[in-house]
Amino acid sequence: MTTRKTELIDQLAAHWQAIKTRPIKDLFTADATRFSAFSRHHNGMLLDFSKSALDDKAFSLLLDLARAVDLEAKRDAMFRGDRINTTEQRAVLHTALRLRDQRPFHLDGHDIMADIIAERAKMFALAEGVRSGKISGSSGFAFTDVVNLGIGGSDLGPAMATAALAPWHTGPRLHFVSNVDGAHLADTLIGLNPETTLFIIASKTFTTIETMTNAQSARRFIAERLGDQAIADHFMAVTTALDKAAEFPVRADRITGFWDWVGGRYSIWSSIGLPLAIAIGAEHFEKFLDGAGALDEHFQSAPLDQNLPVLLGLIGIWHRMICDYPTRALIPYDQRLARFPAYVQQLDMESNGKRVALDGSALDKPSGPIVWGEPGTNSQHAFFQLLHQGTDIIPVEFLIAAKPERAALEEHHDLLIANCLAQSEALLIGRSEEEAKAQLVARGLSADAAQALAPHRVFTGNRPSVTIAYEKLDPTQLGALIALYEHRVFVEASIFGINAFDQWGVELGKELATSLLPFVKGDKKDPSLNGSTAGLISFLTNR
Ligand code: F6P
Repeated sequence: MTTRKTELIDQLAAHWQAIKTRPIKDLFTADATRFSAFSRHHNGMLLDFSKSALDDKAFSLLLDLARAVDLEAKRDAMFRGDRINTTEQRAVLHTALRLRDQRPFHLDGHDIMADIIAERAKMFALAEGVRSGKISGSSGFAFTDVVNLGIGGSDLGPAMATAALAPWHTGPRLHFVSNVDGAHLADTLIGLNPETTLFIIASKTFTTIETMTNAQSARRFIAERLGDQAIADHFMAVTTALDKAAEFPVRADRITGFWDWVGGRYSIWSSIGLPLAIAIGAEHFEKFLDGAGALDEHFQSAPLDQNLPVLLGLIGIWHRMICDYPTRALIPYDQRLARFPAYVQQLDMESNGKRVALDGSALDKPSGPIVWGEPGTNSQHAFFQLLHQGTDIIPVEFLIAAKPERAALEEHHDLLIANCLAQSEALLIGRSEEEAKAQLVARGLSADAAQALAPHRVFTGNRPSVTIAYEKLDPTQLGALIALYEHRVFVEASIFGINAFDQWGVELGKELATSLLPFVKGDKKDPSLNGSTAGLISFLTNR
């Protein structure tokens, strides 16, 4: 670590030790302007971090920390197309996919903007063909159902965004099959008519075993019902490995590509967005790109202390590196964002779940936190008990829209907002033992009974949260939200000093699954397998 970075982290840690028992609620009593001082607006989006323990000193040290790691220079290097993914020698240019200024963009002397424009035109042509019925099944019927076969970044982005933008759906029904568990495909296919079903094989590498296995089974589903000659009409592919898709075989005019400078978990903006484009159409997909593009411009131009992704990243750093909180919960009070926590989980944990620095040396400070969550209000009736009274402090990030979008039951929205605010308020203020006791006595309990019950009804409070509020969830807003979280991951990675764009940690399990398969199938026996794995194989294959 650079000396300046170490110094700042030490200063932040010392400051935290000095203030950690100070109730956050007291900061509001001491400063009537705290909300405006510790919240920021951009393009109809509000980031309120006043319910965290940050004070002026911590805030200013965090901004110094961002400067000490040359955050702005690192950001510019990413947008410029430098090979910042050093372990794979790749540029990281998902941002080029939503550049609204479509002037030539040269990477290694090649204009990638021309490629982007051509491939997007192909994706939109395929999407519009399916939507209009011009592209049909082998019997000439328009497609009523589209099944995306992909996993990780080739599933979570399109699945999340398709659910989020349900009110804009004007195309056929969308389904997403990711798991190699045959139940996922089999259950999805129940009730689907092969004549009107289209499969999209979505895989950056076109080698991922789950997706390839599902694609082969889907192929059989079509072949057995409609004949081999029908296969070509019922498959499309999205990949960087055009040759492998052609070998499947998928017809060349049904394959749309992307490039190695788009990471899987950053690929929703590329042809991986084909299912979303089929669902909402090209015009709304462009708005989705606009939202992300505008957030990119903000990230590149706003001063650090006004910059939403920078601030969200610094709050994350404060909670993880300084306060040592191991996890953070992401709770959208927006049912259509039900898959957003799972999406951000891959984005964040596959990017920042690293144990070594860029130079390969072991980190001496924590890196990415565990990210998890479910929509509110459901989560209130599931795990909020632990958030309020558990022994760990878990910072919460609430997402909430001011207005519902075409909700059938608009009056529900007031209740949704009230619940969201009630949770962050309860986490903040808590309830003391005296208050709990007085409340019980007021309800008619004896002093002794109130004394015995009160500790169970205490809320320590002083539990930090952040609220991200926006006008309404529409394609533009969704694009901005995703880009906000993408750049937040980048900001945190820059401070952790890690490469956010590789994912070697997924490799070992994949290799071992391949080598264990012959033992599971019973084709091989290996006395050197460890006792647990050998015992489990014996139990699981004794069928
Ligand atoms: O799980 C690892 C991973 O490589 C992810 O990064 C990626 O999103 C997913 O697998 C799917 O990969 P592909 O698109 O190549 O099938």
